[in-house]
Amino acid sequence: MDEIKTKIDKLRNELEQHNYNYYVLSNPTISDKEFDMKLKKLQKLEEEYPEYADPHSPTQRVGSDISKEFEQVTHRYPMLSLSNTYSEEEIKDFYERTERALNGQPFQIDCELKYDGTSISLWYEHGRLVRAVTRGDGTRGDDVTANVKTIRSIPLKLLGTGYPDEFEIRGEILMPWAVFEQLNKEREEQEEPLFANPRNAASGTLKQQNPSIVAARKLDAYFYYLIGGSLPTESHFDNLVYARSWGFKVPDVIRRCQSLQEVFDYIKYWDTERKNLPVATDGIVLKVDSLVQQRYLGFTAKSPRWAIAYKFQAERAVTRLNSVSFQVGRTGAVTPVANLDPVQLSGTTVKRASLHNADIIKGLDLRIGDMVFVEKGGEIIPKIVGVNTEARSFMIGDPVQFVKTCPECETLLYRPEGEAAHYCPNEDGCPPQIKGRIEHFVTRRAMNIVMGPETVEDFYELGLIHNVADLYTLQAEDLLKLEGWRQKSVSNLLQSIEDSKQVPFERVLYGLGIRYVGETVAKRLATAFHNMEQLQQASFEALVETDEIGERIAQSIIHYFSNEKNRELIERLKSYGLQMSISEEKLASRTNKLSGQTFVISGTFSKHSRDEYKAIIEQHGGKNTGSVSAKTNYILAGENMGPAKLEKAKKLGIKIVNEEDFLNMLL
Ligand code: IVH
Repeated sequence: MDEIKTKIDKLRNELEQHNYNYYVLSNPTISDKEFDMKLKKLQKLEEEYPEYADPHSPTQRVGSDISKEFEQVTHRYPMLSLSNTYSEEEIKDFYERTERALNGQPFQIDCELKYDGTSISLWYEHGRLVRAVTRGDGTRGDDVTANVKTIRSIPLKLLGTGYPDEFEIRGEILMPWAVFEQLNKEREEQEEPLFANPRNAASGTLKQQNPSIVAARKLDAYFYYLIGGSLPTESHFDNLVYARSWGFKVPDVIRRCQSLQEVFDYIKYWDTERKNLPVATDGIVLKVDSLVQQRYLGFTAKSPRWAIAYKFQAERAVTRLNSVSFQVGRTGAVTPVANLDPVQLSGTTVKRASLHNADIIKGLDLRIGDMVFVEKGGEIIPKIVGVNTEARSFMIGDPVQFVKTCPECETLLYRPEGEAAHYCPNEDGCPPQIKGRIEHFVTRRAMNIVMGPETVEDFYELGLIHNVADLYTLQAEDLLKLEGWRQKSVSNLLQSIEDSKQVPFERVLYGLGIRYVGETVAKRLATAFHNMEQLQQASFEALVETDEIGERIAQSIIHYFSNEKNRELIERLKSYGLQMSISEEKLASRTNKLSGQTFVISGTFSKHSRDEYKAIIEQHGGKNTGSVSAKTNYILAGENMGPAKLEKAKKLGIKIVNEEDFLNMLL
């Protein structure tokens, strides 16, 4: 047995070291495949020998599916902010103020970058991560430990030696630019609202209730502040060097400066060099290095007297506003776009800027012909941040008005209560909405019909298609008459339309483009309601009772099915042979999806009987057992699950899934 324990420990240490090499040092020494093999080996051993389970094992970083509200925790040391400065003059003031307050004692200033993410406080005891808490209001924050554990560069167990028994470390959770851009690309494809910048994306992700979503979003974390009663040294800089040796990602751009000139040199260097970093920064932080001096200088009510932030000037350009156009998307949302005289900004030519919504336009008091300030800041899409009113001539026009009617179909727009956006309600007659819905329907993740936006546009303009059902009536002889279409391309298209009849129900549902019904929601709905008919008949109450379906989504589904035209469309799709229910075959066919997983079924169910669930688990390679033990991987919990079982499961950290979660696992 001891031999097994040694083997497990060795694997865990090895894997943590590789995690550290990869995520902190960016210097992997083994391939991803080798890493995965070692991880699988460890997973297997942990399953076989549950007595050696450890919540800090590298296998625990994948994130479980259990959702819960965050618990509020009081910070041991309040999380203060820093006072901001914007000029070298103010930095000089800070430096001289410090000099005076220290009565002319020599002091050193540590310069660091100011990372633009969301701050986090981690608490370690005996070298293990115990708790991760967000800033909150500075006094109390959310306990986001489960989410933070999914961030690979954060050590769950510290490396080396010499760390205090208990300490707090603070840093910034960041979403690297590359991850941010990819995430927004995916969201754009699904017409989900985009994150404005990596900071919002990081904090939004950290507040996700489902840690497996957090795990998938690839966050990173940089650390810059060690607090506790018995830190290794009395120098901030040296303490961070120690923290680095324990496995934290402490950026090595930190400099200990001896003079004001060195501080200025640092600022000057990083003002341009920061653009080459993988994460967003918005300034420099200056800190008095000596903790003795820090204690002497103390705090004001809001911030330490021993530190200050210098914010970089966002790059800005001035240009002329020529016109504002209004674009209509698939969902009918109308977006105002500013058309500008081309201007250079952060290395790219800017011709257009988003104006977001009517309130923003009003707030800017914008007029055509205005000279406007354009900034890129942390955002990818440039925005107009102000108007140079002094440059206005007496000839200046009236304020820009948000259009009242749809620029495409002239229908009167409406603005739902509580929303910033205006919509065109003419779902069935507004061309960009119709074309947009067809484009969405044919995408790879929906029906996977090989047809680009230009083809959709052409076919629509030629009157061949008015809605998605018309795709299934396209005839080879009509297409062959069109310019540029030959036997081969026509038969490829028709074949992919034919193949789409086998696309599973949840993707058909997603393809319909019901507002707020993305891929995940579509899967949820498919497993909860089984088929289109039942979904169509579902009441608002039944919809909101479904996991992850809130009022906004429920309302949108009800609205969709209340439209006669949509119901007709679905009838037609059904008549052409599209999948309108989750395939019972799929649930019944044998797979290995649950192989190696042990289940305990508890409670009563509504979609299948207990015996049916038992059979389903076995069909998919899983195992059933009667009682909860450390060997159990999942509890399939129905109504009225016994409290003793629940208690035990929680204690052992076993994942609890409901019927829908479970059925989702098989899709
Ligand atoms: S030190 C008591 N160092 O900026 C001072 N903060 O406005 C503790 N930040 O809430 C903060 N980079 O989220 C410090 N190198 C850095 C930082 C940094 C980013 C953030 C942090 C803090 C905010 C202060």
